[in-house]
Amino acid sequence: MRRVRYYAYGGPEVLTVEDVEQPVPHAGQVLLRTEAVGVNFVDTRFRRGPGSGSIFQRPLPGRPTGDVVGTVMQTGPGVDPRLTGRRVAALAEDTYADFVIAEARWLANVPDSLDPGDASTLAMSAPVALRILRAAPLNRGDTVLIHAAAGGIGHLAVQLAKLLGAGIVIGTAGSSDKLDFIRTVGADFAVDYAQADWPDQVRAVAPDGVDVVLDAVGGPVLRSSLDLLAPFGRAVVYGAANGELEQIPVGKLFALRSVTGFNLTAWRHANPGQARHEMDEIANLFEARQLRTTVHASLPLSQAAIAHEIIESRSHTGRILLLAAASMPAM
Ligand SMILES: NC(=O)c1ccc[n+]([C@@H]2O[C@H](COP(=O)([O-])OP(=O)(O)OC[C@H]3O[C@@H](n4cnc5c(N)ncnc54)[C@H](OP(=O)(O)O)[C@@H]3O)[C@@H](O)[C@H]2O)c1
Repeated sequence: MRRVRYYAYGGPEVLTVEDVEQPVPHAGQVLLRTEAVGVNFVDTRFRRGPGSGSIFQRPLPGRPTGDVVGTVMQTGPGVDPRLTGRRVAALAEDTYADFVIAEARWLANVPDSLDPGDASTLAMSAPVALRILRAAPLNRGDTVLIHAAAGGIGHLAVQLAKLLGAGIVIGTAGSSDKLDFIRTVGADFAVDYAQADWPDQVRAVAPDGVDVVLDAVGGPVLRSSLDLLAPFGRAVVYGAANGELEQIPVGKLFALRSVTGFNLTAWRHANPGQARHEMDEIANLFEARQLRTTVHASLPLSQAAIAHEIIESRSHTGRILLLAAASMPAM
């Protein structure tokens, strides 16, 4: 089978397509035949290695993670064999491959009606988008500021904020195409945070401050966002795209503001029942056509390097997919 790994840190060209034996599932695991893989920003950072920022360090060889959608072909010891043949989604390692090993306990059920793009968000992107809103927590009528709102998680968070009853949703992004896109997925206002006066633009539409901020950018964006919080405003920090963790001055919290952190792995450990329930909840929203994923590009598995180039160019809106040969549209 084909698999993509990297053996040195560097640009997208270090991604190497190789021919290897199909892996075997161990205890608690399943073997999936890949249909599609959602490519995530974080793997472009891991691939760059030292220099990407202190939070993005991973050992070699690089085994790209991703949001795989596929069919269970084989179950390992201790796993219900009736899972065989089921269409599922999983967040796993070594996912840019024709066959992928995943943990059975964190498989998301994928209804047949879901296309690969929607299905690719069930294990990670959409559960993160939903949980960061609930972690805030978002209350009905709240004004919400969502950074990097055109991205894989961001464009789902905009839609979910509206579904959960947000009042005004403000999305930020770094280009005019992305700002147009953010509006099409439901944001009331779109602000270019590459412009120095972006906080003033947010204040213009939310003069009393924002109730909720979702941030995975960090640095000056996070610092300015804390100043934009209304009394009792809540910021949820779930990443730092710029690679370094920001220090939060405690003094900023005295103005009745709070900051919560979120990480999917920690959440799954802390509340596995609710974490699993939310994957089903999201599948139902997709089935009911209340939520939709925008796929920016679908590429063959062998073009993983192009997928990484697109993400690093910061030009993508929504999701980038790698498709296994059988899922590629006929030419
Ligand atoms: N806590 C968790 O459990 C968890 C799980 C998965 C992902 N994450 C984090 O969630 C965030 C979104 O993930 P995603 O896969 O959906 O990515 P994405 O939003 O599709 O891509 C990242 C976006 O971040 C923006 N950005 C801001 N500052 C940047 C910088 N210095 N360098 C590069 N991009 C920058 C860019 O959008 P603009 O061009 O519009 O600025 C870029 O397109 C990431 O920070 C990721 O690490 C957290």
